[in-house]
Amino acid sequence: MMPTNETAGCPVHHGFDPLGDAYIADPYPIHTAVREETPAFYASAIDMWVITRYDDIEAVLKDPGTFSAQVGQKPVFPLSEEAQEILKKGFRAYPVMSDCDPPRHTRIRKHNMTGFSPRRIASLEPKVWAKATELVDAIRPGRVDLVNALTYPLPAYMIFTFIGFPDEDMDMLKSWCGNRIAFSWGRPSADEQREIATNMTNYWEYCENFVAKRAAEPVDDFTSDLIRIRQENPDSLSLEDITNVAYGLSFAGHETTTSFTGNAIRQLLSNPEQWAAICADRGLISKAVEEILRYDSSIPAWRRITTRAVDVGGVEIPARAKVLILLGAANRDPKHFEEPETFDIHRGDARRHLAFGKGIHYCIGAPLARMEARIALDLLAQRAPDMRLVEDQDFDFPANVSFRGPRSLLVEWPG
Ligand code: HEM
Repeated sequence: MMPTNETAGCPVHHGFDPLGDAYIADPYPIHTAVREETPAFYASAIDMWVITRYDDIEAVLKDPGTFSAQVGQKPVFPLSEEAQEILKKGFRAYPVMSDCDPPRHTRIRKHNMTGFSPRRIASLEPKVWAKATELVDAIRPGRVDLVNALTYPLPAYMIFTFIGFPDEDMDMLKSWCGNRIAFSWGRPSADEQREIATNMTNYWEYCENFVAKRAAEPVDDFTSDLIRIRQENPDSLSLEDITNVAYGLSFAGHETTTSFTGNAIRQLLSNPEQWAAICADRGLISKAVEEILRYDSSIPAWRRITTRAVDVGGVEIPARAKVLILLGAANRDPKHFEEPETFDIHRGDARRHLAFGKGIHYCIGAPLARMEARIALDLLAQRAPDMRLVEDQDFDFPANVSFRGPRSLLVEWPG
């Protein structure tokens, strides 16, 4: 796939479309082709500059002064007026962490790291085991969709529990989550935009009321940790900041991990000898998790916007340019990984992947995501070592520029 044009030294690509069918079905051959051709190019289909190689992407992540995070959550395509009106009435979220730059980002992140303490993450481990066991116990022999049965409900339950949302609200909260990815990262229809904007507004109002409740009566959860930080120093975090964090985390900690665990199960069952190795020695699972993050992460691309003109590998990217960094292409860059297109859970250096980013925005949920995937795989290896992917199923992936995971994953569950 060659860049089809060149303007003032910048390769222009009219064919690169992350919302196109071929890319959605399998972005990796396209990542490889563009990475081999050029370190950076302009993609007219999405009006973004695309960066393709590990070293350049790492440099972008480490330079927040030049590559601002402010576009991280913004809709890729303009919203309809109706959706904008709905949001104006009841959605008061503002940039808070993944879409915000220093110094504001530094302040908010510092307090969040307190809430994501190793003690709190470790305290979740028995809960992840209990919830995963409950979900797996409910599976009956025969054909089962593991997204529905396990990989969607497990991270949803864990992140809602972590934030502190009560159990009885979970079904309602989940019903508001549908299709959020399409809103900011895809090209939703006007009807879809209306529905998603309404759900986001409901969710936002729920978060505001929830944080007000915790402010009046803190308990032992992440939101109450933030409330206590505020009680000690009211200038540290506003109630709006805390509401933003609760809102943002319920997204960041959910679909990312659903998709990741789905990708993990799919890759392992597609490589039966590697699945068998894990079932024989569950000590291999942590290593396998890193290889899946390298090979088939749930966020193969992420966004930035330039604050000034910058040279990337000899390609001049202008100021205020929207940029797509291909994390998935970086993770298969032969300069950094031997035989990068081979999925190999025994690989020694998989952990050098960029799946969780790098630098000041490095994923704060990485320990939780790793733990959930590890426990889900461990349980499946114990309970269903003989499970098989249903043959000839068509995997369907949501059309968007950043997130990737199968919508459903059919397996034959042994009797
Ligand atoms: C396998 C699952 C996950 C993947 C692949 C993933 C990936 C990422 C990536 C690439 C970034 C960096 C974005 C940037 O540089 O701008 C990030 C940031 C972030 N992630 Fe994750 N994530 C996952 C799971 C989670 C979970 C479970 C949580 C919460 C419990 C979470 C919360 C966050 C937050 C809050 C940020 C923003 C951090 C900041 O801007 O300082 N993520 N994640």
